[in-house]
Amino acid sequence: MLVHIGKIVNKRIIGKYAIPAFNTQDLEMTQGIVRAAEKQKAPVIIQTSVGALEYAGMEELVSIIKIEARKARVPIALHQDHCHDFNLIKKLINLGYSSVMIDASHLTYKENVKLTRVVVSYAHKRGVWVQAELGRILGNEDWQKVKSGKDLMTDPDEAARFVSETRIDTLAVAVGSMHGIPVNPKTKKVLTTLKEHIDLERLQAIRRKVKIPLVLHGASGVPDQQIRFAVRTGVAIFNIDTDLRVAFNRALRENLKKHLSIYDPRKILAPATDALQDEAEKKIKILKASNKGRRPD
Ligand code: 13P
Repeated sequence: MLVHIGKIVNKRIIGKYAIPAFNTQDLEMTQGIVRAAEKQKAPVIIQTSVGALEYAGMEELVSIIKIEARKARVPIALHQDHCHDFNLIKKLINLGYSSVMIDASHLTYKENVKLTRVVVSYAHKRGVWVQAELGRILGNEDWQKVKSGKDLMTDPDEAARFVSETRIDTLAVAVGSMHGIPVNPKTKKVLTTLKEHIDLERLQAIRRKVKIPLVLHGASGVPDQQIRFAVRTGVAIFNIDTDLRVAFNRALRENLKKHLSIYDPRKILAPATDALQDEAEKKIKILKASNKGRRPD
């Protein structure tokens, strides 16, 4: 069922389990995610990026997610990932998103607060949650590329101030994880051996000062042990995209290599969707969200 994000993300879950926020861009990804949530009886967030909306078409993609979510026997919330365009946010709220992210993290602290407050005021009047980012999450995300620097990480005191000045509902923190897969700039090869490292002390310090649910972006590639620690520390939402895409991709390539004569897109795509579902189920289990998807009250 399609639910408001507040039905599945709340104070009761903090420290016990966390909700995966899976990115989707098409029918196959959406179905793989929904099947994983149903099989694990888990609540999940399905989120769209600006790029995904452009790729599939806004109304097309939102309709697919809503139809699949409504049919599901577990609670599913719809969220917009990184967005710096207030007009697009207004349209998405109109289309039924219960949560949106205004990402003004590329601006100065003061400008970030200013734009975030405008979005919060608009969204809260309509019962919609707002996520914002303080610090800068590494890697590539749609329009922005963030390279490196400890100074880009979220400062715990500033985070507390930011939350009270903006009245946001969830906070995306920069603590060392990164969007996407790191690539060697010289050879252009994917650095699969490079594990991301979360600054766990910083995360704990932020948790002590910030009482609203925290969001860890770039959760793909973070070792399971660190993810579990982050759940216990109180991260309530984990954004996951790349690991689903990699699983899909690998299965797709293997299938095509093994069966040179298939040409029916359904036969080409089905094993890839299954692989994506398996990967999503693994993530749900690591976050301890299995069997937490009872019908919300
Ligand atoms: P990954 O692609 O690293 O999983 O990150 C996804 C994300 O944080 C989307 O906002």
